[in-house]
Amino acid sequence: MHPCRAGRYPAPLIPVLLRLTIFSLLLSINRVIGSSLWPHQQINTTDLEFGNSKKNEGSSEFVHLKYHMGPVLTTNITVHTIWYGTWQESQKQIIRSFLNSISAVNSKTPSVSGWWKTLQLYTDKTGANITGTVRLGAEKNDQFYSHGKSLSRLSIQSVIKSALTDTKQPLPANPKNGLYLLLTSDDVHVEDFCGQVCGFHYFTSPSIVGYTLPYAWVGNSATKCPGLCAYPFAVPEYMPGLKALKPPNGDVGVEGMISVIAHEIAEVATNPLGTGWYAGEDPSFPVEIADLCEGIYGTGGGGSYMGQLLNGKDGSTYNMNGIRRRFLVQWVWNPVLNYCSGPNALDQ
Ligand SMILES: *[C@@H]1O[C@H](CO)[C@@H](O)[C@H](O)[C@H]1NC(C)=O
Ligand SMILES: *[C@@H]1O[C@H](CO)[C@@H](O)[C@H](O)[C@H]1NC(C)=O
Ligand SMILES: *[C@@H]1O[C@H](CO)[C@@H](O)[C@H](O)[C@H]1NC(C)=O
Repeated sequence: MHPCRAGRYPAPLIPVLLRLTIFSLLLSINRVIGSSLWPHQQINTTDLEFGNSKKNEGSSEFVHLKYHMGPVLTTNITVHTIWYGTWQESQKQIIRSFLNSISAVNSKTPSVSGWWKTLQLYTDKTGANITGTVRLGAEKNDQFYSHGKSLSRLSIQSVIKSALTDTKQPLPANPKNGLYLLLTSDDVHVEDFCGQVCGFHYFTSPSIVGYTLPYAWVGNSATKCPGLCAYPFAVPEYMPGLKALKPPNGDVGVEGMISVIAHEIAEVATNPLGTGWYAGEDPSFPVEIADLCEGIYGTGGGGSYMGQLLNGKDGSTYNMNGIRRRFLVQWVWNPVLNYCSGPNALDQ
């Protein structure tokens, strides 16, 4: 989580030095992408900051990622998706394809499954690694907006409860292996969406839902803030001259979601109940393994530079291959190397 970085977002707008302003803006944009539940308060990230470091791809010098003795997801993960609002089948297919690619065995390198290998380096207190198996579970369509078009953080748990208790085809409650992924369509507002966050993860409260279930929410930003949450496939309007990159699957909003979904799933896997892997002193405001690498997608990435990416013949930009598709996904913190890494790293 990165409330401080998110909080900094509007600050550099004052155009004192144009270059500096653009640099700072990019820095802020890149770092506002995902979040845990707790983005409101400022934290002092002096000891976590690496943006100004000479070293690229994060800096190990000041990052103190720690394991807090709680569970991590070491058994096969089943992702249960709730499609909230209006979703095209073509959009669902991009997201399903990404999720299926995590454990795919034969993808061309650099691959999504190669990206997940970094997750597998994390262990729990028994020494068990994060699972290599992530598969799609049952899905639920909430196409009639059961809780309206504006969701609070708390009502997100009610949406999950509705999906679990629906009279026809309820989602299974799976506290051991389930990861509940709530995806909202581009006409749905969620508390703090676009202002501070593009997604977050947390776990449900037994008093509301009946179980403690790790979940993540990610919104389609296409109509509300693509320049923020679907960057670099869209750029902010107030930054003339900056050109958006072409997404590999032709859907700006959904492909912006892919990296945020990846970010949140990586953090659920390593910190499902807030007692796993994170940096920072305050457990209410953890800085997690994807937060540490926001905006970094390739070798040399850091600051406003995304790093070395790949270009398709069609002019699209990506950094990893999945099952019959390409994706652009941020890197995550590598606990062995002590910096951010990904499958498209040039120096591995
Ligand atoms: C953050 O921490 C550093 C080092 O402990 C301190 O010097 C600085 O004043 C703190 N900043 C804020 C805003 O509290
Ligand atoms: C499990 O984690 C340890 C410690 O990071 C690592 O050395 C080992 O390679 C991991 N195993 C797998 C299968 O990734
Ligand atoms: C977990 O997934 C593997 C395939 O990756 C499968 O062989 C195994 O049976 C699964 N285990 C359970 C408990 O479902």
